[in-house]
Amino acid sequence: MRTDKGLNEGSLSLEEAIFTRRTVREFQPKPIPRELIEKVIEAGATAPSALNSQPWRFMVVAGEKRDELVKILRKFPAYLADILALYPKEAEYISEESITDFAKDLGRAPVVVIVYMAKKRSDYAHRIDLLGCGAAIQNMQLTAWSLGLGSVCLTSTLWIESEIMVHLGLKDFELVPVLPMGYPVAEPTVIPRNPDVTTWIGL
Ligand SMILES: Cc1cc2nc3c(=O)[nH]c(=O)nc-3n(C[C@H](O)[C@H](O)[C@H](O)COP(=O)(O)O)c2cc1C
Repeated sequence: MRTDKGLNEGSLSLEEAIFTRRTVREFQPKPIPRELIEKVIEAGATAPSALNSQPWRFMVVAGEKRDELVKILRKFPAYLADILALYPKEAEYISEESITDFAKDLGRAPVVVIVYMAKKRSDYAHRIDLLGCGAAIQNMQLTAWSLGLGSVCLTSTLWIESEIMVHLGLKDFELVPVLPMGYPVAEPTVIPRNPDVTTWIGL
């Protein structure tokens, strides 16, 4: 387990990062050096986007402000039944107890990155901006992982979006996900992938 690497040691190759990254939901409470957070943010901001529109915006929250924010974020399990109803097959394998437990203090993540973007009037622009933000988040999660950090892309918080955005002074923007981040406590569980997702034509 890579838990405490500096900037220039411990970096993984792209392939290693892609194939070993796992979602982390339990963190050591120790702070993350600012240079590492900057590197993760820079990786996000380097993602491709339609017309190079760079739709993403980031807010990095730590310390007392993080504790205040968590008091709001921890309300999302109130919507757990609604969330799981949208994914009935997956819901069978999810422990509501572990989600509720995680939500109490976001697995003790010392840093919470808010990914957000401007509200869009057109459905087309909205869709492509979300794709751009998704690319940024993937860059961020892989970079964090390659630096020995873990993260979780937490979209369940969208159910309490307005409360979060008002609290952060961002009510005119749209929340994408919340990314709690920190040093992992333990090797996360490997979640298998469905190998049967591709149709090959002409090969
Ligand atoms: C778009 C997106 C939304 C997600 N939302 C949540 C979430 O709300 N809560 C959560 O605990 N994990 C969330 N995850 C993490 C997934 O549960 C996780 O990626 C998946 O189970 C596969 O596990 P792995 O990332 O460890 O390979 C999300 C991941 C993505 C990409």
